[in-house]
Amino acid sequence: MAVLETDGLERAREQTLALVETLGDDDLERVHSRLMSPLVWDLGHIAAFEDLWLCHRRGGRPLLRPDLAATYDAFETPRARRSELRYLRRAEAESYLAAVRARVRELDLPADDAIVELVLRHERQHAETMLQTLALARLDGWTPPSLVVASAAASPASGIDLVVVPAGIVPIGAAADGFAYDNEKPRHEIEVDSFAIGRLPVTNVDWLGFVEAGGYARRRWWSPAGWEWRQSEGVERPLQWIDDARERRLDGVHEFQPGAAVVHVSWYEADAFARSHGLRLPSELEWEVAATWDSDRGLKLDWPWGDERPSPRHANLIESGIFAPLPAGSLPDGAAPCGALGLIGDVWEWTASEFRGYAGFRAHPYREYSEVFFGPDYRVLRGGSFAASRDVVTTTFRNWDYPQRRQIFCGLRLAGDLG
Ligand code: AVJ
Ligand code: FE
Repeated sequence: MAVLETDGLERAREQTLALVETLGDDDLERVHSRLMSPLVWDLGHIAAFEDLWLCHRRGGRPLLRPDLAATYDAFETPRARRSELRYLRRAEAESYLAAVRARVRELDLPADDAIVELVLRHERQHAETMLQTLALARLDGWTPPSLVVASAAASPASGIDLVVVPAGIVPIGAAADGFAYDNEKPRHEIEVDSFAIGRLPVTNVDWLGFVEAGGYARRRWWSPAGWEWRQSEGVERPLQWIDDARERRLDGVHEFQPGAAVVHVSWYEADAFARSHGLRLPSELEWEVAATWDSDRGLKLDWPWGDERPSPRHANLIESGIFAPLPAGSLPDGAAPCGALGLIGDVWEWTASEFRGYAGFRAHPYREYSEVFFGPDYRVLRGGSFAASRDVVTTTFRNWDYPQRRQIFCGLRLAGDLG
């Protein structure tokens, strides 16, 4: 699935800079959360990554700033340590970005170059990370650029209804041609029994039901590790709920949309919610089957709705300018063959699966993208959030985080066994 447009890099840059344009220097440069980098670190890192991959590795030029390589190497310098280093401040980071981009233009690379796409996707992923930082920072007086306000639905949708996905032998993972991350390959067939999956993501009104049923007090609905986390952190509601009626969004405090996907819940909370309904989270493979398998035609689709790239008709991604989940089910053109809606956009959906390589995995082009995270520590999320771009989201894309994390724009979809 080719997702690039020729001006992709330029468009991504405009949007990255628009995110920080109205921020004061202090808010750009300080640490807002120990989970996140200072925003200005992300800017310098975007530039360093682009210089390393496009100018140096692809174009054979020496690095523009070899002295900054360690500071901006995400693996050498993990998030918690980034504020200790002498990273570039605003003006320097902005000129570094511009200087690297000028070198890239000189290389005049074709837009469908795989390394161009790697670099474009990297910037898009960091833009979403920066939005997570901005959400945690709870800044007054900052709002997302070009905010479109979604209208409320008449009656709130619920994510408790399930649809049936038929059994089959289904291809999983990205095709050999076209851009994909190493962890999406190789494509392989799996045999799945029929199962049930949520027609919609779980919504705020569903979550309120869980809270009111004593969801955060009933140990039997939680895994042992989940209960320990809930006890030690004293968690009683999703991260950005103020009380049981209002939530903080990127543009301030609002009464929450009862029928919009719940966002900012941990894997532990998602798992407990599913158990409280006698259900479970889908495995990531089930998620991909539900999103891509047209059982009538025996065909793997690129997108739930077919082979058209995502548009605001199909999915609420950042290009829509709506910086929050829409009322669930409001984009019927995005339906998968099984009838599930909203699989792409709105929220990243937690799955039951640990993050591991598929059989035959080969690290490419760099080991630190995914292989170093494989193992029992991380859980996979699928789909894509309202803060993700159509340039990065695909139905085979695998995101991951620790089960206790809720700073990402994450929610859930239920699953169950049949008969
Ligand atoms: C795929 C979102 C988990 O943010 O750690 C950015 C993406 N990798 N720079 C991350 C990434 C290197 C990655 N996630
Ligand atoms: Fe990065």
